[in-house]
Amino acid sequence: MTARSCILVTGGAGFIGTNFVLQWVERGGTIVNLDLETYAGNPENLVSLTGSPQHTLVHGDIADAALVSLLFREHRPQAIVHFAAETHVDRSIAEPDTFIRTNVCGTFTLLEQARQYWSSLREPERSTFRFLHVSTDEVYGSLSPDDPPFVEEQAFAPNSPYAASKAAADHLVRAWFHTYGLPTLTTNCSNNYGPFQFPEKLIPLMILNALAGTPLPIYGDGGNVRDWLFVSDHCAAIRTVLAKGQLGETYNIGGNSERTNLEIVRMICLILDELRPDPVGAHDRLITFVPDRPGHDRRYAMDARKIARLGWQPSVRFEDGLRSTVEWYLNHAPWVDRVRTGAYRDWIRQNYDERISR
Ligand code: NAD
Ligand code: DAU
Repeated sequence: MTARSCILVTGGAGFIGTNFVLQWVERGGTIVNLDLETYAGNPENLVSLTGSPQHTLVHGDIADAALVSLLFREHRPQAIVHFAAETHVDRSIAEPDTFIRTNVCGTFTLLEQARQYWSSLREPERSTFRFLHVSTDEVYGSLSPDDPPFVEEQAFAPNSPYAASKAAADHLVRAWFHTYGLPTLTTNCSNNYGPFQFPEKLIPLMILNALAGTPLPIYGDGGNVRDWLFVSDHCAAIRTVLAKGQLGETYNIGGNSERTNLEIVRMICLILDELRPDPVGAHDRLITFVPDRPGHDRRYAMDARKIARLGWQPSVRFEDGLRSTVEWYLNHAPWVDRVRTGAYRDWIRQNYDERISR
């Protein structure tokens, strides 16, 4: 597979998908991008590709077998990179249905349609075809402070409806490799941050709340730990696995950058104190401890030595990536205004009003 190949991407109008699509096209590749444009999918992210023969955005559902089959037959992609998912843990707790439908049934549909297409290929296309499934560290469950990081052989122990739906999808991918020989690859990555992240997730939410002078809602004691990775490093890792990964294998991806939520929010406050001082006072005055997320995983950390052997490692220091992320949100106020729709505000009210007023 070369950077110039045509690939089918799902969920390429979301946060990581957008970054991946922009980088792939910049490197000379061609993409057919299937995205349902849910609240988290934003075609505006890809406006710089308007009219480009290297990018075709198709509005549709990964669970629509007829549509997926048509895309395979029309575009004859050399690989599928599957990002599309419902991704927010808090939403999965409030309304799990769409997580099962998209993450489990949608992945099943893609696997079946990919299998039919791949079975019809002749050499050399048959041998070079790849199905790369993008997954998460959350399938492994939660670590104690002194546990070693997650390795690929770790037993799955998903704790949220989101994590369970991703774990189910990972198992389906594994089965399609073992049973049918579909040439699959799976990546399990830690928390991403960077440009285009929808502001329901920790880092953009805290940046925007701090700018607005509204509470910074920290679940529980703020001591939960995540292993943060700048999104462009995740995209590079996916390209590495696509090019060099061994069929049927899974690869852990992490930033080797564990931080507590409280540390992160304090860092954001300090960056904003410098870049956008608030005359009322330091931004950390807004930190507000609120009731915890049910079933909140305490700690994630990834052992990424297996993918390191393929030649990948993170390149962006957390301090640098966080600062450039804050700058990106400061420089993209119109984008921020447009994504904070009525539905977004409804979600913020639903998830936080009661927590903050307690
Ligand atoms: P996101 O929520 O920002 O974007 C998801 C995209 O999928 C959106 O564009 C949405 O419109 C699309 N989508 C949802 N349902 C669909 C359907 N039925 N058919 C077609 N498109 C649909 O997600 P993200 O944060 O960019 O995550 C992308 C992938 O990476 C997910 O599979 C997620 O599990 C995985 N992942 C995310 C992180 C992270 O920190 N964000 C870390 C590890 C793995
Ligand atoms: O670990 C990878 C996962 O990272 C991905 O698979 C998910 O798709 C992605 O959403 C992310 O899940 P998290 O639950 O870790 O991310 P989130 O940004 O929602 O929360 C990060 C941490 O911050 C978590 O411990 C909960 C906490 N938090 C989050 C929000 C939104 C708060 O304390 N307050 C908040 O308001």
